[in-house]
Amino acid sequence: MNKLAQVNRPKLLELLSERLAFERASVKLYDDILGKLRQLSPDSGMDRVAEQLATVRDQEVEHEQWLATQISLFGGDPDALTPRVQLVEIESRGIGEVVSTDPDLSHMFHALLMAELGDHAGWELLLELADFADDPLARQEFGMRLQEEDRHLLFVQELVENLARREVLGQEQPLPELL
Ligand SMILES: [Fe+2]
Ligand SMILES: [Fe+2]
Repeated sequence: MNKLAQVNRPKLLELLSERLAFERASVKLYDDILGKLRQLSPDSGMDRVAEQLATVRDQEVEHEQWLATQISLFGGDPDALTPRVQLVEIESRGIGEVVSTDPDLSHMFHALLMAELGDHAGWELLLELADFADDPLARQEFGMRLQEEDRHLLFVQELVENLARREVLGQEQPLPELL
């Protein structure tokens, strides 16, 4: 990521900090969701979903740790409360509140979809910047994680679609699998 950092290190750090704040909020979100799913009865059919969401959660942890390491390597503070970090914290609050207070499972997955849409767009933005800066190493690191975000987004989108088909059309479908 050296090339990107050479262009504008403070702004790169600000963007990485923003992503880090988002990933931290995601890990907390997945922990809360997994806690809720564990309380469901075994015949809810959500066991397999929970197992796969736990895999996604572990990938979010890796994103979080990688970002914190990069920020430190470029001389930043992973715990700095920057304006973008504050922005993400405010935005994430509503999503977190749905998951922690709303008992409706379809609302929980709706909120999770909002989070994964943002997660995906965030990594996509970093990848675009790496492209524009012609930084192949940054491109590789961001691209790898964006591929994981592709799978997160697809899985949660399919979950939401599956629940909508049940609720709206009365069509029972097998629950999706994380690719
Ligand atoms: Fe992520
Ligand atoms: Fe994600």
